[in-house]
Amino acid sequence: MKDRLLELKDRLHQAEIGGGQKRIDKQHEKGKLTARERIHFLLDEGSFEEIGAFVKHRCTDFGMAEQRIPGDGVVTGYGTIDGRLVYVFAQDFTVFGGSLSETHAEKICKIMDMSMKNGAPLIGLNDSGGARIQEGVRSLGGYADIFYRNVMSSGVVPQISAIMGPCAGGAVYSPAMTDFTVMVEGTSYMFVTGPNVVKTVTNEEVTAEELGGASAHSTKSGVTHLTAANDIDCIHKIKLLLSYMPQNCEEKPEKLPYEMGDELREQLRDMVPENTNQPYDIRDVVKGIVDEASFLEVHENYAENIVVGFARIGGRSIGIVGNQPMSLAGVLDVESSKKGARFVRFCDCFNIPLLVLVDVPGFLPGTDQEWNGIIANGAKLLYAFSEATVPRITLITRKAYGGAYDVMNSKHIGADMNFAWPSAEIAVMGAKGASEIIFRREIKEADDPEAMLAEKEAEYQEKFAHPYRAASRGFIDEVIDPVHTRRKLIKAFAMLENKVGRLPRKKHGNIPL
Ligand code: HXC
Repeated sequence: MKDRLLELKDRLHQAEIGGGQKRIDKQHEKGKLTARERIHFLLDEGSFEEIGAFVKHRCTDFGMAEQRIPGDGVVTGYGTIDGRLVYVFAQDFTVFGGSLSETHAEKICKIMDMSMKNGAPLIGLNDSGGARIQEGVRSLGGYADIFYRNVMSSGVVPQISAIMGPCAGGAVYSPAMTDFTVMVEGTSYMFVTGPNVVKTVTNEEVTAEELGGASAHSTKSGVTHLTAANDIDCIHKIKLLLSYMPQNCEEKPEKLPYEMGDELREQLRDMVPENTNQPYDIRDVVKGIVDEASFLEVHENYAENIVVGFARIGGRSIGIVGNQPMSLAGVLDVESSKKGARFVRFCDCFNIPLLVLVDVPGFLPGTDQEWNGIIANGAKLLYAFSEATVPRITLITRKAYGGAYDVMNSKHIGADMNFAWPSAEIAVMGAKGASEIIFRREIKEADDPEAMLAEKEAEYQEKFAHPYRAASRGFIDEVIDPVHTRRKLIKAFAMLENKVGRLPRKKHGNIPL
């Protein structure tokens, strides 16, 4: 009995130190925390309950029978974050490089199943050399078992992935199918094929960091939603993200206590410049509307012509989508449409109401856009808004031109409340372009074509460069003084609190992917 107890203690100690002190030191030298340290900082103190600490791999090839470390390179279990239940796995790079064996995968699948059954978010801390090479197809099967569960869990519970070390090959597809990915700068990378394969196949010379580091994926590919300066910052960002989300698709996000006070915001009065072509930062509008310091932007450096993120308004969690006049004048293009659509669909999955801020001159013209599928990609955003059943409110701050007016959560595609500032211009296109088309003959035949164009532009401007025509048709519910925006929105979101939106019965729609 005594021997058994000693053995148990020894095993626990091994599980505690993973692959040994030397490997832990190596992990620290790289600026990384260990799997257990990460879990320690992620969860409320003392809340972690480990599952499967004694699990060992079953491989006997390549001398693996002699190397069996309890836990098998991944720490799994559950605990709480700010009192809320979450399931977590953290790959342990100190054990076989965190590589994924059949049993390692089984441990992850077990908590994924529990997270679905019990309706609580799943957080994956990835730090792995990929498929356990010694196990061959058993490890590939293990990945597929995880991928399948990622898909089954999608839209049921929030799934958040942190990339805190290597994540290569097919392994990238698990984080890619989760809702949000956070990458640590300098110590993490993700790619389907690494620099050596790239060099062999395409002759390109590229470092791992250039190919798949946090910077590449936060600016070029959009694979990561957030980046973090280090492991602690990464963990902080996961917690922050989670604070806006409910536990599962059957619940609403937590509403913080809030009492209406003086909700007037003078700074919104002059937010939109007199000159309609002058840019301004839509984030200033967001900050003027939402609860103080509550805005968490995601995908900040990717497709910057659209801004998306979470915030609170009157204590309620909301998702924000806004055209950004500071970047490409706020046009919709391929990347911004995809970015917006994915965010809208996330919010809709998890009952997070949407606020849409519109200042959009249209879709970006050009061969690049057409050949890269602005038709199919723009349709994604249109589709995502149209099928969203959460409360949806739109505020047009300035331009709402052409098809982009329809797409950006117009009344016609199911928005619940549509507001406009007096500076709004709702029309098929801008005054100059429109006048050149519809008054072409008059301008051409005029003694002074330039003066005639200016006159026609002014006439067009007078007729359309305002929100009152749209309001007279009921497409805009109210034209509001910018100073009153916050109060109007708090009241409108409260009014929509119990909205029940249903889609026609179907297996699933066919979003133009
Ligand atoms: C088994 C592995 C391993 C793996 C690393 N290790 N990756 N063991 N299977 N995939 C072991 C190493 O042998 C080493 O053990 C320990 O982990 C630490 O690795 P190091 O190489 O010393 O660490 P480092 O120098 O930091 O390099 C990390 C690395 C490198 C860049 C990740 O280990 C590496 O290139 N590993 C192989 C990556 C890979 O090709 N994986 C398969 C990808 S394809 P010892 O005992 O010596 O300390 C894939 C397919 C998935 O994953 C498909 C899903 C559908």
